[in-house]
Amino acid sequence: QSADNTPALVIGSGYGAAVAALRLGEAGIRTLVIEMGRLWEAPDSGGTVFCSMTAPDQRSMWFKRRTEAPLSTFLWLDVINKDITPYPGVLDRVRHSNMSVYVGRGVGGGSLVNGGIAVTPPRAYFQEVLPGVDADAMYGTYFPRANRMLGTATIPSDWFESTEWYQYARVARAQASAAGLKTVFVPSVYDFGYMQREAAGTATKSALAQEVIYGNNHGKRSLDKTYLAAALGTGNVTIHTLSRARAIRRAADGTYTVTVDRIDTTGAVTATDEIACRALFLGAGSLGTTELLLRARETGTLPGLNAEVGRGWGGNGNVMLGRANHVWNPTGAHQSTIPVTAIDDWSNAANPVFAEIAPLPAGTETWASLYLAITKNPERGTFTYDAAKDAAVLNWTAGQSAPAVAAAKSLFDRVNAANVTIYRYDLFGDTRAFAADFCYHPLGGCVLGRATDAYGRVAGYPRLYVTDGSLIPGSIGVNPFVTITALAERTMARVLAEDDVGR
Ligand code: FDA
Repeated sequence: QSADNTPALVIGSGYGAAVAALRLGEAGIRTLVIEMGRLWEAPDSGGTVFCSMTAPDQRSMWFKRRTEAPLSTFLWLDVINKDITPYPGVLDRVRHSNMSVYVGRGVGGGSLVNGGIAVTPPRAYFQEVLPGVDADAMYGTYFPRANRMLGTATIPSDWFESTEWYQYARVARAQASAAGLKTVFVPSVYDFGYMQREAAGTATKSALAQEVIYGNNHGKRSLDKTYLAAALGTGNVTIHTLSRARAIRRAADGTYTVTVDRIDTTGAVTATDEIACRALFLGAGSLGTTELLLRARETGTLPGLNAEVGRGWGGNGNVMLGRANHVWNPTGAHQSTIPVTAIDDWSNAANPVFAEIAPLPAGTETWASLYLAITKNPERGTFTYDAAKDAAVLNWTAGQSAPAVAAAKSLFDRVNAANVTIYRYDLFGDTRAFAADFCYHPLGGCVLGRATDAYGRVAGYPRLYVTDGSLIPGSIGVNPFVTITALAERTMARVLAEDDVGR
């Protein structure tokens, strides 16, 4: 396809990509979105679009023979993971040495599989992480715009206090409080009106039916229902699915050509397209965008990319852990999959931690409290290009996760001491209490102001942009998608005002 047919090309369809697609479409620019995953729209023969966490099938994971859930065992028993047929399922676990990264695959990217927690970071920490970004504009314009578009809301507190579905969160709150720690409500993109109807038995259950990491059949305002629906509504945006961008090159006339492999549901490449465009927006996520640019630099198709491409990666200091409760303090057999509370000790300068109070929706009483702690781990990883594998490889040592574990341990030792409780050692496939060898929040690789200018314009390459989580240098202190969305809004406002992105 020539650049006349495709003025703007967007790679990926997660947060950064979806914002780009909508704002380009609204500006009247014909835009093609390339997404390697499926469109998750049609129910299968069983009547659902997605499978639940407790009964995973081929739709659960991206070309795996067995599911690879973050909690792999229970009471050390291998009862959680199931054999499946390889298929373009919705959740991927990308394995690097000492660090696995969970990402969403499909139209909507991470929004399909994530917990929907929509937090705006504390302003002081945002400024510390991205000092080159005008915080007044972010907090006055772009964060509010992102939250409005994403449909962010907070759970009605009277319902939270009374429903059995959040007993686990109330128990964890009381235990944090006993240790002198503050708990906050975290906003969400899940529709709490819908959730209350689920509880009342008047709507089909989703959050209350153990659905989340393999997709929610109802209730969650994922990007396909917000930004991407609006993008398609402009009439200028088209999405190609099961299409994986592989290579990027630039012609003498300044247009970009992207090599795109089309795959079928077995993963076989059925065709390869060369798609030319005037402006190229990379929204393939921290791993995807970094790999595309690193490969382009190292194979010489975009040789002028600077040395910052591949640097500044972090997993937002993610650590998962469980605590064992006393038998007289049950967390409930009924647990909503959508987290709505967090222990907020970020202002503790000696040991900042923001710990999401996570569900363990097993359908039976587990006497466990689960958390995803976000810590201020200063360690950063670097990607290098492995020519033999034609892939970006993350260089991350086990020792680089140690500061995150120490921070989480410091906070939860306090919670355990105050409640005379211990950790759970049976959840992560061995006897560890802390899992810091996987993350949900990959950030960095093409950091704003280093690999790009202050607006995501890739250094040295006009009309080539990064719009996703790879812009954030490894840490943002809270769950990241609101920040990714708001930064993409800021980029698109600037780019559409200043750059000739082609009509
Ligand atoms: P994102 O990863 O969303 O999208 C990238 C897209 O590009 C994907 O659809 C991918 O398939 C596609 N792609 C990649 N390479 C490609 C290629 N070469 N060609 C074509 N397409 C390609 N965050 C939060 O704020 N609150 C929360 O509650 C949670 N919870 C959570 C739970 C779980 C299980 C996970 C895995 C993640 C979360 N997150 C989260 C993290 C959040 O989902 C994540 O930060 C964002 O989705 C990242 O947005 P991006 O725009 O960077 O990329």
